[in-house]
Amino acid sequence: MPALIASAPGEDHLTITPSVLYFGTPVVLISTLNPDGTANITPMSSAWALGDRVVLGLAASGQGAENLRREGECTLNFPAARHWHRVERIARATGRNPVPDYKARMGYEYAADKFALGGFGSMASELVRPPRISECQMQCEAKVVAVHDEGSVADPVHAAGYLIIEVQVLRVHAHSEIVVPGTNHINTARWTPLFYVFRHYFGLGDDLGKNFRAESI
Ligand SMILES: Cc1cc2nc3c(=O)[nH]c(=O)nc-3n(C[C@H](O)[C@H](O)[C@H](O)COP(=O)(O)O)c2cc1C
Repeated sequence: MPALIASAPGEDHLTITPSVLYFGTPVVLISTLNPDGTANITPMSSAWALGDRVVLGLAASGQGAENLRREGECTLNFPAARHWHRVERIARATGRNPVPDYKARMGYEYAADKFALGGFGSMASELVRPPRISECQMQCEAKVVAVHDEGSVADPVHAAGYLIIEVQVLRVHAHSEIVVPGTNHINTARWTPLFYVFRHYFGLGDDLGKNFRAESI
């Protein structure tokens, strides 16, 4: 048997400068209220949760970011993998009118009603004014608790930089299809969130095993 030759540390790794650092996070459809009382959908994926807080990274020039700052409320709706076509249907749209120059140059267009554009249905929320998206089996009602923008870098592409918006989840709605009957646990055998990985859409891979604290069956 040939002797194993250890590679020098770092030999197989290249230094690269990717245009985005979208390692792979769930897609979230944020529903917010526009100034005229209609609802907007902002597809996004720079989100993470800890306890009852979710931290959202949003370009400051978007309508969703503006609505969140003004209204202080939203719903976070989690599409399933099978919804990726609908998400992509609203991907080139913004609720911002006029469309910021840098986005117009990329082909973005104004859409007054992304529910209609994407074929999404709306349902009333219980604690906040923005509606939930009925196709999404997981929905959270949330309020803004902090907006961090001092550090937001005004980069040449996203003219107004980014906001880090911290929301507190007030209520979680999960479709009975994905809840373990009689519990508060999500049945991970039935829940297939949509993921965004370096601008490609993915579903779930195989269930490889579970953490010692996993509650699902
Ligand atoms: C799957 C997906 C993920 C996205 N993730 C983000 C994100 O994390 N943060 C962000 O600012 N924009 C993200 N975008 C881009 C926004 O959706 C886009 O700027 C949109 O025009 C915002 O809509 P609004 O201006 O109506 O809020 C994402 C788009 C897609 C399709």
